[in-house]
Amino acid sequence: ATKAQMSGIAVQRNCNWYRNGRGERNYKVTVVGAGGGIGQPLSLLLKQNALIDDLTLHDLSPTKGVATDLSHICTRTHVNFFEGVKQEGLIDSLKDANVVVVAAGQPRKMGMTRDDLVTANATIAMAVSCAMSISCPEAMLAFVTNPINMLVPIAAEFLKARGVYDPKRLFGVTTLDVVRAKTFIAEFMSINPSLVDIPVIGGHSGNTILPVFSHCSPKFTGVEDDVNRLTKRIQDAGNEVIAAKAGAGSATLSMAFASAYFVNALLRGLNNEPNVIESAYVSSDVTDLPFFATPVLLGPYGIKENMGLPELNTAEQAALENMLPELGQSIQAAIRLAQFVL
Ligand code: LMR
Repeated sequence: ATKAQMSGIAVQRNCNWYRNGRGERNYKVTVVGAGGGIGQPLSLLLKQNALIDDLTLHDLSPTKGVATDLSHICTRTHVNFFEGVKQEGLIDSLKDANVVVVAAGQPRKMGMTRDDLVTANATIAMAVSCAMSISCPEAMLAFVTNPINMLVPIAAEFLKARGVYDPKRLFGVTTLDVVRAKTFIAEFMSINPSLVDIPVIGGHSGNTILPVFSHCSPKFTGVEDDVNRLTKRIQDAGNEVIAAKAGAGSATLSMAFASAYFVNALLRGLNNEPNVIESAYVSSDVTDLPFFATPVLLGPYGIKENMGLPELNTAEQAALENMLPELGQSIQAAIRLAQFVL
């Protein structure tokens, strides 16, 4: 990134701040894959976000219907749409976006791992990164599409190749793991899920998802067996949905909720709200791996501070060490793939 981009001058130019005359800051969010199973409910939730002035939808399939439908909702967020396979549509849809959220791509089917989706979905990370480098090099880029563990490193390589990589602005959305952890813990403790706070570290698949129960607030009341059982349920929750949908795909609605929640956190950070901290899969030096999910403090220029690894108990430390080789292999394979294509 240029010095101006790094210092945020370019971001400010693109923010359309104060446009509504009420002193509110307004942002443009582009949803890539807006016509899909996650994209549609995600767009519906974002249409209700008061920080979004311009909600732009993009998909390869027609988005006019979804955009027109959403545009009748009585919030002040303006809805635009772009559609079609031509790269220009993607480039235009991203023009001056502050946040780009990518939900496009193939979902997982029964028996597949998330990494199995890399062949189908890697090109999306590549295309979006290249289009972003032209249209909105200062934007926050958030991947919802799987395999998150791999698409984020692939995007980083492409953004680097285009000379616009800023590790503070690239995110894998792992919020659904936090959302699930809150829900299952609240069920167990018979409390309101909105009261629960828990860091989830690592990545977004199987063993790489590590909810840190020792840092659960309020304090988790279960015994070790409960921690193990709930950890397993959180790690396998994607499979639970795939099995329940019996051939009709993977989680869409809870993923849309989680993604809208994370986009809102990015916008609150952009808007300079203090103490916006969310777990996300980001470029990292908290372990030996180049990407890792930990809680990050968000600000006007993306990650203000990586909050690092919470202090882990013996079992959590063992789970961390157990996941590192698997996550490391996914990241290395992703980087090799990107470098092969580049
Ligand atoms: C999830 O966790 O539900 C998503 O990552 C979708 C999937 O493939 O499980």
